[in-house]
Amino acid sequence: MSEMWDSLWINLRLATMVPGAVAYGAIENGAIAIRDGRIAWVGRRADLPTGAARETHDGGGRWATPGLVDCHTHLVFGGDRAQEFEMRLGGATYEQIAQAGGGIRSTVAATRASSLEALLASARPRLMALAREGVTTAEIKSGYGLDIETELRQLRAARRLGAEGPVRVATTFLGAHALPKEFQGRQSDYVDLVAGPMLDAVAAEGLADAVDCFAERIAFTPDETARLFTAARAKGLAVKLHADQLSDQGGAALAARFGALSADHLEYTSEAGAAAMAAAGTVAVLLPGAFYFLRETKLPPVDALRRHGVAIALATDANPGSSPLLSPLLVMNMAATLFRLTPEEALAGLTRNGARALGLQDRLGTLEIGKVADVALWDIERPAELVYWIARNPLHAVLRAGRPQEIRR
Ligand code: NIG
Ligand code: FE
Repeated sequence: MSEMWDSLWINLRLATMVPGAVAYGAIENGAIAIRDGRIAWVGRRADLPTGAARETHDGGGRWATPGLVDCHTHLVFGGDRAQEFEMRLGGATYEQIAQAGGGIRSTVAATRASSLEALLASARPRLMALAREGVTTAEIKSGYGLDIETELRQLRAARRLGAEGPVRVATTFLGAHALPKEFQGRQSDYVDLVAGPMLDAVAAEGLADAVDCFAERIAFTPDETARLFTAARAKGLAVKLHADQLSDQGGAALAARFGALSADHLEYTSEAGAAAMAAAGTVAVLLPGAFYFLRETKLPPVDALRRHGVAIALATDANPGSSPLLSPLLVMNMAATLFRLTPEEALAGLTRNGARALGLQDRLGTLEIGKVADVALWDIERPAELVYWIARNPLHAVLRAGRPQEIRR
């Protein structure tokens, strides 16, 4: 029987990122056939079944990878924190600035003062910066509103950005990011608000695909995190956690106990934490941009994560305070140089494992039959170049659900 496709791409070298014996799941002389936005067939051109396509494209021998998945960002916010960067360079630490009422709280003030349109206007170019380096899916968290109205506004902005294209957006509710100043001395009351009326409002509008929390000595305790996660799970929402970034709070194990999609940062995570994550299938999201920008020295336990078989994802953590970074390619380079990931692990971190960290592994993250046809085409000779170059962007084109995207400058 002959197949009918919407489009057919030939003359590609494929880094399918399907795990197996071949590095990068690579296939030379490959082809991808697309129907209804999905990959209808992928493999060696020589094995292509008989079929006809409405359009045939010649990939020119370029490498094709899955569209990149940036699974942890805080892209929607007001203002910036360049001034705090100067303070830190003058000797103040991230934690000291936060305790003095700056840090996340200063972005909260700027975000509360921003309209939906203003949030969209500032976030759009940031998202386009990611798109220009091959990102086709990004997660965007709230967490700079810390009141119902502003948290909803951030999440609505994130949803809107995803509807505009070219990047699909997964949203995460991060009401438990910091204690807003009007709740000073009443942290438990704030957790009640987040886990109660705020979460209700977010869920009622269908604004969040997951719920996140910053578990840290400058943020929320393990017990408070557990209260929030219990409420989220009761609503059928997935959870993820900012865990063990500045100290070992047992965050990784806590995330695992709630079956979290991911635990993120993890610099201070113990061996036991890694083992718990493996048992629960919780993905480790490493964020070398924050490690670099905060000049951290404690490395995440990469060997323990590998030994226990925890899937490792990478993300930009794009945010104004700890990681003003809009380059997934640089993230891969940092993960290799700072954390000693192999180039293949780095690329898996922004494709297959990034998708898994969002619970989207059945649809995204590899080039396989049945998956959404999100594809990035690169002018490179070998996949390791995506990790190797610093500040060189070899992206040639991206497809979202099979359609070539125009990426505005
Ligand atoms: O992922 N760790 C907490 N949240 C962000 C930083 C947010 C900020 O400083 O504005 C992070 O690093
Ligand atoms: Fe973060």
